[in-house]
Amino acid sequence: MALFSDQTLEEIRARTDIVELISSRVPLRRAGADFKACCPFHNEKTPSFIVSPSRRTFHCFGCGAAGDVFKFVMLSDGATFPDAVKLLAQRCGVSLQLEDDPQANRRKTLMKVHSELAAFYRRCLLTTKEAEHARAYLAKRKIDAETAEQFRIGYAPMRKDVLLKWAEKYAFKPEDLVEGGILGAPRADHPGESYYDKFRGRLMFPICDQNGQAVGFSGRILTDAKNAPKYYNSPETPIFRKSRILYGLCFAKKNIAKAARREALVCEGQIDVIRCHSCGFDTAVASQGTAFTEEHVALLKPYADSALLVFDGDSAGLKAATRTGRLFLAAGMPVRVALLPTGEDPDSILRDKGRDAFQAILDAPVSLAAFQIRAMRAHETSPESIDALARITNELFETFAACSKAVLQSYLIQESADLLGIPLPALEADFAAYKAGMEQRRHWAHAENPAPRPSSPAPDFQPDADVAAPTVEERPAEEDAAESPAPPPKRRWRFAETPLLAIADFLVKTSTTPSDDYAAAAQFVRDWLPETAMGDGAVKAVAQAALSDCLDGTDALGALAKDGSDEEKALIDYLARRKSAILASEIPAGEAVADLVAHVWIDFMKERRDQIDPSDEDGALRRLQLATAIRRLESDTSWQSRSEIISQLL
Ligand code: CTP
Ligand code: MN
Repeated sequence: MALFSDQTLEEIRARTDIVELISSRVPLRRAGADFKACCPFHNEKTPSFIVSPSRRTFHCFGCGAAGDVFKFVMLSDGATFPDAVKLLAQRCGVSLQLEDDPQANRRKTLMKVHSELAAFYRRCLLTTKEAEHARAYLAKRKIDAETAEQFRIGYAPMRKDVLLKWAEKYAFKPEDLVEGGILGAPRADHPGESYYDKFRGRLMFPICDQNGQAVGFSGRILTDAKNAPKYYNSPETPIFRKSRILYGLCFAKKNIAKAARREALVCEGQIDVIRCHSCGFDTAVASQGTAFTEEHVALLKPYADSALLVFDGDSAGLKAATRTGRLFLAAGMPVRVALLPTGEDPDSILRDKGRDAFQAILDAPVSLAAFQIRAMRAHETSPESIDALARITNELFETFAACSKAVLQSYLIQESADLLGIPLPALEADFAAYKAGMEQRRHWAHAENPAPRPSSPAPDFQPDADVAAPTVEERPAEEDAAESPAPPPKRRWRFAETPLLAIADFLVKTSTTPSDDYAAAAQFVRDWLPETAMGDGAVKAVAQAALSDCLDGTDALGALAKDGSDEEKALIDYLARRKSAILASEIPAGEAVADLVAHVWIDFMKERRDQIDPSDEDGALRRLQLATAIRRLESDTSWQSRSEIISQLL
């Protein structure tokens, strides 16, 4: 009988957010790094059912039910193991590989090659005479024995036949090592050439997946040969996908998850990660020189609520921090940047100036927008000039637009206006125009190349539950789809603006075009969205006026347009001049409005949660309650479940 390969099962486990899965059936409450609930598998009044996101397991101390995501689906749905695997595979976009699949066997062999080889390189570093200069190098760099052991640092010997002999002993074929990118094969037209170790003579850093299994190597040069790269890295192989590996994550994940502020420290290089961990900054990870990707963010998301980037303040650092920061914002994660002096990295600071100096840098981070403003101004010859301002704001708009969360976005906009010394409404108006242009371009792109309609997923298996509403973007094609099972294209909903603004816009438009559907949608907003959840800005005033016009037959908008504040007048004028995203979208207005209302609540609750002082004991409890409600609103997108949660808040 064909079995599912370990690799596939592991991939499904890694890609399934166990908290999201279980909370779609049982309301979970946070308890430290874990979550708890009353056990769904036996009757109880006090919660003894624990879900651990870092171990990706659940356990009930009452009835003993325990296991991983597969076990949970088996128990809660009465599914067989293969059915549970199929269900979860489909849900997270993994294509199933069977054990007798030759590809799965190749991966297994490669995994074994890597873990044995890491151990071999390690022994070479510790015991061979040849590695003496490598040991001296580590000592010079002040990497102690314990740290070298933790990160399994090794040494690749120079002699050509060493690896072939080693492979023979373990019954690995030279081709296995060639496929792993470790050996170069002799070229057919070069008689007498033999296999050669691509890493020979280098200090070896095994690159591990989040379970600590070595899947690739990075080798640092130990001589000052000018024509060789400083680091030589494994190529992409069936087990090594650079966009899916974060150096240090296997150690950092549990530290991030249990920290009070669940924040990942993102650096640029593996030496930085090693130094950070050895100095007690044990939440550090790095993508090691390759660009950070959406998948890297997704890898961190189960453990981290936010990210702190420690990047160089030079122009390469600016570019990398901006790209990386936007990916976090798009995933709804707050991101801050700790500025390093030009030419320094975490390793050099920690080694030369010590922990306190590094801590001081981490303690003074700035938002991505503030970082961009500072770095871009430094590169402008006359930073106060009008054209410099135009260049800077244009870059900022891209950052604002990347935010999938309205609160993050409005925070950045406000802060940028302050830092640039321009009035908030001016920056907002230009950003609105920028977005309208973007929407227009996207609209044209879609008209030429219509996106396929999504198949509707089962209600509690939403592909991308935390973002919703007006505009549609297709996930870009996987860059290396041929490598291994690529997830099917995901449909992603994204706010082009704050949910409340989209609602206000819709109400303004429909207040002049009476229809039963629109009136029902307006009534829905009045029923489910109290004024307190609308903040107290111009958007609220306009939304309230439009509601009153829709439902009570007043002319409040007219009055506001005449006698309101400048901001209110500008907003009404702006809304009148553009299309409503809800009306333009293909989703029925009622559905879109319900979703937006839920998101106004989510943003509102997040704001409230962030205002609570976590050190106050009562506060901690209220934070937990809010966080649970937010999580449920985000993960269960059916209005029926959302309305239950919101009714309790009203
Ligand atoms: N890198 C790489 N290939 C190179 C240079 C760098 O893959 N030729 C990657 C490595 O993962 C490295 C990261 O990019 O850790 C950052 O590069 P750099 O700042 O140049 O290296 P450091 O980490 O500072 O390494 P070291 O301190 O050993 O010079
Ligand atoms: Mn360095």
